[in-house]
Amino acid sequence: MSVPAPTPVIDAASQSSRYPAIVILDFGSQYSELIARRVRETEVFSLVMSYATSAEQLRALSPRGIILSGGPSSVYETGAPVCDPGIWELGIPVLGVCYGMQLMVQQLGGSVVAAGKAEYGKAPLHVDDPTDLLTNVEEGSTMWMSHGDSVERLPEGFVRLAHTVNTPEAAVANHDRRLYGVQFHPEVVHSSCGMAMLRNFVYHICGCEADWTTAAFIDEAIGDVRRQVGDKRVLLALSGGVDSSTLAFLLHRAIGDQLTCMFIDQGFMRKGEPEFLMDFFDRKFHIQVQYINARERFISKLAGVTDPERKRKLIGTEFIRVFEEESRRLGPFDYLAQGTLYPDVIESADTNVDAKTGERVAVKIKSHHNVGGLPEDLRFKLVEPLRRLFKDEVRKVGRNLGLPEEIVGRHPFPGPGLAIRILGEVTEDKLNILRDADLVVREEIRDAGLYNEIWQAFAVLLPVRSVGVMGDKRTYAFPVVLRCVSSEDGMTADWSRLPYELLETISNRIVNEVQGVNRVVLDITSKPPGTIEWE
Ligand code: XMP
Repeated sequence: MSVPAPTPVIDAASQSSRYPAIVILDFGSQYSELIARRVRETEVFSLVMSYATSAEQLRALSPRGIILSGGPSSVYETGAPVCDPGIWELGIPVLGVCYGMQLMVQQLGGSVVAAGKAEYGKAPLHVDDPTDLLTNVEEGSTMWMSHGDSVERLPEGFVRLAHTVNTPEAAVANHDRRLYGVQFHPEVVHSSCGMAMLRNFVYHICGCEADWTTAAFIDEAIGDVRRQVGDKRVLLALSGGVDSSTLAFLLHRAIGDQLTCMFIDQGFMRKGEPEFLMDFFDRKFHIQVQYINARERFISKLAGVTDPERKRKLIGTEFIRVFEEESRRLGPFDYLAQGTLYPDVIESADTNVDAKTGERVAVKIKSHHNVGGLPEDLRFKLVEPLRRLFKDEVRKVGRNLGLPEEIVGRHPFPGPGLAIRILGEVTEDKLNILRDADLVVREEIRDAGLYNEIWQAFAVLLPVRSVGVMGDKRTYAFPVVLRCVSSEDGMTADWSRLPYELLETISNRIVNEVQGVNRVVLDITSKPPGTIEWE
């Protein structure tokens, strides 16, 4: 059994004026973040905190409610993560989910045993008490079960609210103390009435208000940024992705020309992308963007390099060099703005906190290249107004600030760009070939109305040639791989089952329109074992 590493608690440098209405204590469940997202879908602000957060810390935060997540452990194992028992005495409503419920039961004098029959998957819930937590949860509705242990005996003062065939105590409550437990996972989509149940907890039991709205977030974030940076200058490395674009709009609204955006063109972007970005930000929205043409530098670094890891390293290192030089040239800047999101905060601690000011300080720049340290004199203080948001929330903020769907809804694009979609050596000629092929893929996927259903769709250029025939002439040219995947988060993926007619059009267009390509092949590998990118 592994005890989960404690997740970051609200830090002194949180830069935010908002405290969570619901705190999720994380016992290592893969669903802890999902619970937080679901609560936020009810327009109530929630944060994930370590299971080790003390009752005193929670009292100081005074959330309206606490949710204990599930977790991989058994409560009776030695070393299993436990919460501070003082939590039961705070008078704050608590909902224990799966492991969280078992912990509640055990700490309050009931008992938990290894279930005779582990229960995984969907199970119909039989409601014994359709009030309170289970208001509007239909009799027989499907709930998602995933547990090996079960509650055997309830603590004093607890009653059963619902059961399933295999789990007598599937939902329980101590109404007087406002303590609740559910053996199922209301947060996953398979639990048909899970959201209704979470709403009951959040609104009726905890008395939360629906105030976590996009508009409220923007107002608060603008106030927070203004307070944080005062009249100082802020630098932002714009990539054109959703996060940095939303950040640019938000900061521009907050601090106007105190913001300088820097767009480093490595030469590995899609066709028309640098022009589109400059036109959009600089000329249309008057957000100052310094265009840095570094194409020569990058391509010459890659001459003769074929190893994928080496390519990535060289690109990453060069990016940091250009970033350093240009920020010195354009600076000085006091702050570096980063599009750090909430999952990054939960998962990483690559950042130091300045002992004097309590502000987060970048020791690395969170470029999409995941490389290298910054020199001492470039240790910017960080502005990270998106660090409380999940990706879907960033999109909402971006839309609300006026970013077009073309940016808000775009597919992920890797930092090293097309350079890792040209296998082997990257040359200017190959970049041009791939840009043209990639444009065909994008156009056709959009025209077919499939862009938003697909996680990523792109072309890959292989470093081999094969024979073909065009007109009466023999050709000897490169193949292009069509890579289209569906995915929830990029961690796993499946190849997209595109209609044959669409595949045919893409193939015909690429072979006919793109000089240097005479064959199109389809990648039908899922991840794992494949990766989404080819390098
Ligand atoms: P893989 O190829 O590992 O990709 O299955 C998973 C997701 O990550 C993206 N990706 C990157 N994104 N910098 C990025 O910002 C990178 O170096 C990088 N490499 C892969 C990839 O496009 C997919 O969405």
